[in-house]
Amino acid sequence: MLRKAILPAAGLGTRFLPVTKASPKEMLPIVDKPLIQYSVEECERCGIREFIIITGKNKRAIEDHFDQFSELDEVLKQKGLSNLIEEIHRHDQSDFAYIRQSRPLGLGHAILCAKAFVKDEPFAVLLGDDIIDPEDTLLMEMIEIYKKYRSPVIALQEVPDDEVSKYGIIDGETVTDFGPHNIPKQLYKINALVEKPKKEDAPSNLAVIGRYILTSDIFEALEAIKPGKGGEYQLTDALNLLLSSRVVYGYLFKGNRYDAGDKFGFLKATIELSLKRPEFSENLKNYLKSLTAGL
Ligand code: G1P
Repeated sequence: MLRKAILPAAGLGTRFLPVTKASPKEMLPIVDKPLIQYSVEECERCGIREFIIITGKNKRAIEDHFDQFSELDEVLKQKGLSNLIEEIHRHDQSDFAYIRQSRPLGLGHAILCAKAFVKDEPFAVLLGDDIIDPEDTLLMEMIEIYKKYRSPVIALQEVPDDEVSKYGIIDGETVTDFGPHNIPKQLYKINALVEKPKKEDAPSNLAVIGRYILTSDIFEALEAIKPGKGGEYQLTDALNLLLSSRVVYGYLFKGNRYDAGDKFGFLKATIELSLKRPEFSENLKNYLKSLTAGL
C-alpha cells in the first residue's frame, strides 16, 4: 500500500510575481481552494493520507491551511454554517509534516530532505503547479502500475517541440507485456532522461509531468548526484542514475493537465475547473458566451 506523498513547496514562485513576493504560490486559489489542496485531495482519493510538505521562507500559510482553527469553527457553528465546517475539516484524517528546505537547491534536494520521514516505503511525489483534472484517475492508475511491477512510475505527456526545453524529456520504448492487470497501453520503459533539453537535443516529445511514484532507493541516487541543470540537484539526474540498477516506467497521460504555475495556465485552470462546478457552470458559460460574442 502506498501511504505517503511528498509535496515540494519551497519554490520562490518567480513565474507568478508580484503576488508570490509575500504569499506562497501554493496558496493561489482556483476558485476557493488553494493549488496545494488539489494535490492533497488527489492523493486522498487514492488512500494516501501522510503528507510531507517541503517548505521554505514565506510558506507559513500552508501550515495554517491544513491546521485546526477552533475560533473559526465556533463562529461557523454559531452561524449554522455546518457545510463550511465540514469543508474546512475535510483533511482531518490526514497527517501533515513540514520540512524546511533552507536553501533553493532544486527538486532533487527537496525530495532528499524527506528521506528520514519516508524511510524504506514507496511514495508519491506531486508537483503542485501541475493540476490534474480532479475527475481523472491518473495517480490511481500509476499506483496500479507500481503494484504490478514494483518499480518507479513517472507520468508523461506529449508536448510540442517548442516546449521540450521546459521539462524533463525521456528516451523510452513502449512496453508490450501488459500482463494480467489490464494496464493501459501507454506504458514506456525509460532508457534515459534529459532535464530541459534544447529542441534539437531532445530524445522525444515525451515530457515528465509532476506526478511520480518512487521507491526509497531514489534517496541513494539523490545523494550521489552532483548539481545539474541550473546548478540545482535534479530529480531527473537521480532517476537517470537509478536506471543503471532498475527499470523505471513512464505512463503517458492523455487527460487534462494545467500548468497553474504559469499565469495563462492558471487562468485556463480557473475557467475550466469553474465550468465543472455545478454552482457556476451555467452562469459562467453564459458569461463567456456573452464576452466572446463581442470579440
Ligand atoms: C520539474 C522537473 C522536470 C519536470 C517538471 C514537470 O521542473 O525538474 O523534469 O518535467 O518539473 O512540471 P520545474 O517545472 O520544477 O522546473
